[in-house]
Amino acid sequence: MANIAVLGAQWGDEGKGKIVDLYSERSDYIVRYQGGNNAGHTLVVDGNKTVLHLIPSGVLHEGKTCVIASGVVLDPEVLMEEVNELVARGLLSEKRKTKILISERAQVIMPYHKLLDRLREGLGGKAKIGTTVRGIGPCYEDKVARRGILVCDLLDPILLREKLELALKEKNVVLRELYGEKVQNIEELHHWALKMGEKLKPMMCDTRVLIQEALSLGKSILFEGAQGTLLDVEHGTYPYVTSSNTITGGIFTGCGVGPKSLEHIIGISKAYTTRVGTGPFPTELNNDLGEEIRKKGAEFGATTGRPRRCGWLDLVTLRYAVEVNGLTALALMKADVLSELNEVKVCVAYEVDGKRIEHLPSQIRVYEKVKPIYETFKGWPELPQRAQGLSDLPKTFAAYVEYLERQLKIPVVTVSLGPGREETLTRLIY
Ligand code: GDP
Ligand code: IMO
Ligand code: MG
Repeated sequence: MANIAVLGAQWGDEGKGKIVDLYSERSDYIVRYQGGNNAGHTLVVDGNKTVLHLIPSGVLHEGKTCVIASGVVLDPEVLMEEVNELVARGLLSEKRKTKILISERAQVIMPYHKLLDRLREGLGGKAKIGTTVRGIGPCYEDKVARRGILVCDLLDPILLREKLELALKEKNVVLRELYGEKVQNIEELHHWALKMGEKLKPMMCDTRVLIQEALSLGKSILFEGAQGTLLDVEHGTYPYVTSSNTITGGIFTGCGVGPKSLEHIIGISKAYTTRVGTGPFPTELNNDLGEEIRKKGAEFGATTGRPRRCGWLDLVTLRYAVEVNGLTALALMKADVLSELNEVKVCVAYEVDGKRIEHLPSQIRVYEKVKPIYETFKGWPELPQRAQGLSDLPKTFAAYVEYLERQLKIPVVTVSLGPGREETLTRLIY
């Protein structure tokens, strides 16, 4: 099997977990390359639901190597909880021969990162991004500021203490002066971090070397994205984004591999659009239909439980996702949620001050003026749970899929017909 990437083409929660689970059956390695436990990836296998935040979504198959690469920000407690839960459910055991390995160069989410994330969000107003409050932003800030704590630092008591002293010099001033909070105690933090280091030690390795060896042995790798293209820190709807590169480029920086190691890049998109948190959303439906889609699609965050904002599919953003990621294919999710509507709309361009635009605006305030221009399609009846080809699906739905392929100029290789692993039409197998 080829090396493939599976990543979000919208604002996250597109159904990446389901597709990674499905495709990783044929992969040897499944690698998370960015983000952290802001992600919530849902897998439904034999009716049992598993939500993963950090561990790659290939973990339910036996004999896989699941890798958390250096581009990820890692909360040690969350990882241990996730590991323990899988062990308790019998899904992770020696018998199943599944390995979980973490990069010694990944950044550690420290307790003060979570605290700062929460305090900042509490400031409200325009400062509020609506983050998942998992400490993601503050941790990536420290990485870029060259003050971060690496996973391997947790094994070096002297260096760790020096780094904590440096970090707390600033953090404690901010906590006390800006937020009126209690300062962080270095002894407690040092103790906590060393304890976490001992727990993580058996999983630590140089994942870059591991991946290179896998590539040279001809093993197949699936790179699993978190969040989505429009949440990318550089190419998303800044500043209402996450703090990592969620796009294809994040794979190369987040794993230390070159672009030639990747053959197929599959973008995941719902048949409609959702977004959690604040920020522009041109096709949002603030009406009964939006509410109906939220209910029928169970659109509540897998990480925070927040209701997701819902709206029509937006081809301006999807075309953008094809370009910035170099998508070679699309997986279309949750079309079953739109079944039995009389009509289904797709936004094909925006109107701003009476002018038609086909590209995503850079200036955030322009979005206040954006009016979506829609094309309207005939709706489709209920979709079957299984299908072998498009011809097994209602004609109006097949026409919709073919329209998307023409517009995006890439094939729709997978059509998801429900949350379960087997509720899928796979048109092309990698
Ligand atoms: P991710 O973050 O991209 O992995 O997506 P989430 O797991 O946060 O959200 C996707 C939700 O949609 C999950 O609850 C999935 O079980 C569910 N889901 C995935 N594909 C389908 C589908 O085709 N139809 C329906 N009805 N639900 C789906
Ligand atoms: P998965 O991988 C949807 C959103 C948050 C917020 C913004 C910044 O499940 O698709 P952060 O905590 O990252 O600083 O929050 O990004 N966000 C997500 N939205 N799915 C996700 O992950 C998300 N991870 C972060 O809601 O708007
Ligand atoms: Mg999710």
